[in-house]
Amino acid sequence: MIYSQITGIGSYVPEKVLTNEELCSIVDTSDEWITSRTGIKERRIAEAGLTTSDIAANAARRAIKRSGVSPMDIELIIVGTITPDMIFPSTACIVQEKLGLKNAAAFDVSAGCSGFIYSLSIADSFIKSGRYKNALVIGADLLSRITDYTDRSTCVLFGDGGGAAVLSANTENTRGILSTHIHSEGGHDNILKLPAGGSLMPATAQTVNNLDHYIKMKGSELFKYAVKYLKDVAEEAIKFNGLKPEDIDLFVPHQANIRIIEATAKKLCFPMERVFVNVEKYGNTSSGSIPIALDEACVSGRIKEGDLVLIDAIGAGLAWASSIIRW
Ligand SMILES: CC(C)(COP(=O)(O)OP(=O)(O)OC[C@H]1O[C@@H](n2cnc3c(N)ncnc32)[C@H](O)[C@@H]1OP(=O)(O)O)[C@@H](O)C(=O)NCCC(=O)NCCS
Repeated sequence: MIYSQITGIGSYVPEKVLTNEELCSIVDTSDEWITSRTGIKERRIAEAGLTTSDIAANAARRAIKRSGVSPMDIELIIVGTITPDMIFPSTACIVQEKLGLKNAAAFDVSAGCSGFIYSLSIADSFIKSGRYKNALVIGADLLSRITDYTDRSTCVLFGDGGGAAVLSANTENTRGILSTHIHSEGGHDNILKLPAGGSLMPATAQTVNNLDHYIKMKGSELFKYAVKYLKDVAEEAIKFNGLKPEDIDLFVPHQANIRIIEATAKKLCFPMERVFVNVEKYGNTSSGSIPIALDEACVSGRIKEGDLVLIDAIGAGLAWASSIIRW
């Protein structure tokens, strides 16, 4: 049996912090509303000129260094993102060039906020099949570039950042990804989409005037799907591996809203002490959310070697996913 083990993890967030207080001078909102409805206190915003591939490459450099894997031995790069540098070439190819990973195949995955777990699932399959020995999996998004800072119902939620994991083949023990579970349900673009800039609505002066290049979201409708599907997909992973919720050492859910996290944990009977939360610092960083949280959980000692870690996420599509990892 080949396991794909996370041999190195890293993350990167831009330095500039945008606090709730600062947002109050931009839109009609309050720290009290944002904190009580979302749990978010601040988020990071990339300075002009910084791109998603920069965030991805910075996170990946840290992950590769910690893994001890030679850059020349990385054979696959997958970037989960909904904010690529350009529609094409892929951000993964741009990262390949920035990091000099000459021996890798590279492509992007569009799965909304579950982009990292989708990418992990694909890389895991390549490694378990014996096709590749080392893969670089990245989740990175620069949501501030597609956020309408006149729309208070969305602009308070999102931030910029990314994380990366090196996956390596392991045949010696059972450390690694035990399973991944990915699901989609089309037909929900009425509740979450970026309407313009694609083939349906190419960029014109009118699409720019209409603010159609920004995220459009019906938050309260999405909230209900998020709690249901995050709970279902976590349960699926636990059952698939013959485990019980109490066997999981740390649950690292998508960091979108503390109320979604708490409602999901409650339905799963997870005490909050075993749930990792950093949404207050970064808001929702989409594909960056899970790998940033995993990196912080490792660095702070919340994840230790041998721990069972459950991750799950949901986003545009709808697309949702989970995985259990023996760390
Ligand atoms: C967006 C979200 C925080 C809104 O919380 P909510 O409890 O559903 O609030 P509603 O959208 O029902 O809005 C309630 C009221 O607050 C107001 N409001 C919305 N944003 C506000 C803000 N930033 N500041 C102050 N008031 C705000 C609304 O206008 C509404 O006022 P009304 O009742 O007078 O019409 C929540 O629905 C959410 O997190 N959804 C999931 C979003 C998500 O995770 N998306 C990413 C992909 S998973």
